[in-house]
Amino acid sequence: MKVKVCLIGKGTVGTSFLQLVKNKRDDFKRKFNLEIIVSSIFEHDGALIAENGINIGEVLEAGKYFRNLPYWKEKVRAKDLISTMDANICIETTPTNSETGEPGLSHIIEALNNKIDVISSNKGPFYLEYEKIKNLAKKNNCFVKYEATVASCVPSLGIKEQLIGNEILSIRAILNGTNNFILSRMAAEGVDFAIALKEAQELGFAESDPTLDIEGFDAAGKIVILANDLLGWSKSIDDVKIEGISQIIPHAIDLAKSDGYVIKHLAIAENNELVVEPRLIERYSPLNISGTLNVVELETKYAGSIILMGRGAGGLEAASALINDLLSILKNRGFSE
Ligand SMILES: NC(=O)c1ccc[n+]([C@@H]2O[C@H](COP(=O)([O-])OP(=O)(O)OC[C@H]3O[C@@H](n4cnc5c(N)ncnc54)[C@H](OP(=O)(O)O)[C@@H]3O)[C@@H](O)[C@H]2O)c1
Repeated sequence: MKVKVCLIGKGTVGTSFLQLVKNKRDDFKRKFNLEIIVSSIFEHDGALIAENGINIGEVLEAGKYFRNLPYWKEKVRAKDLISTMDANICIETTPTNSETGEPGLSHIIEALNNKIDVISSNKGPFYLEYEKIKNLAKKNNCFVKYEATVASCVPSLGIKEQLIGNEILSIRAILNGTNNFILSRMAAEGVDFAIALKEAQELGFAESDPTLDIEGFDAAGKIVILANDLLGWSKSIDDVKIEGISQIIPHAIDLAKSDGYVIKHLAIAENNELVVEPRLIERYSPLNISGTLNVVELETKYAGSIILMGRGAGGLEAASALINDLLSILKNRGFSE
């Protein structure tokens, strides 16, 4: 079986996706008799297009000089060309504009309008326009998958299928590695917020403008997607009560510690409410993870608490989730091993 893919965004995640497609080519052929053909790779200023398949090794080898390859087309935009692409699946990995969801939202809508299945690592479109995307996918008989948008490779959305015989009642999670790193450093070293943030920036864990992370908007977007998918809600980011971590002082962390607690930045979905805020949790709670990890605790009706934990960021981590989504779509379309 051959599947044609159009990739939008050749940054950290997009490039890692290409790397995995290349690394796993023989595996896919042997295990599934599957060939993934990448026929277009869009950037903001043009695209690599080769209908019969781009030589991925050549693109990866070219590194940042990929625009010198002969099949680079200047100034073409994904939004204008999706309808002409002969692709089965569109992979969206552009950055998020947190207010408009663009450019990803238009890419996703255009792909679905053209009956192309969608896989995304870009969360903006989903926490802003979840219902619209889902309804359009349903109307056009398309699959839309977005595991990487929440906790990257941690199967926080995929778990739903594994818990089909159970019922998820509520969610408590740590979904922003930057904030967890900052709070972990404040607790371990007694340093104040500004120093821990600077350290996170120097180590490359925090953006130069960290507002979306530290003020809780990133985690808020992710808990919206989790709650809508796992609990069947229909919320958007406007429904989340959000408080960041920038006001937490070392004294508060010390007081918590002396009583056997830690302060963590939790994203919570329970009792039909979404909250992102600093909370006290017991030192021995499974949510007391350190560093840049993510954790998701699902309270279930018939099996108590179930915990998922792992790396919530990183190119290859996110790309592995994209590959999972791709294989899952193919399986749903009747492709078997
Ligand atoms: N990195 C991670 O660990 C991770 C994990 C999970 C999810 N995500 C999400 O995945 C997405 C990609 O992340 P990333 O780290 O790969 O970001 P990135 O390195 O900034 O890559 C994004 C790429 O998209 C390109 N782009 C921007 N506008 C475009 C447009 N209109 N059409 C086509 N391409 C466009 C950018 O090009 P220019 O730079 O040239 O503008 C850049 O190459 C983001 O939404 C992010 O939140 C990232």
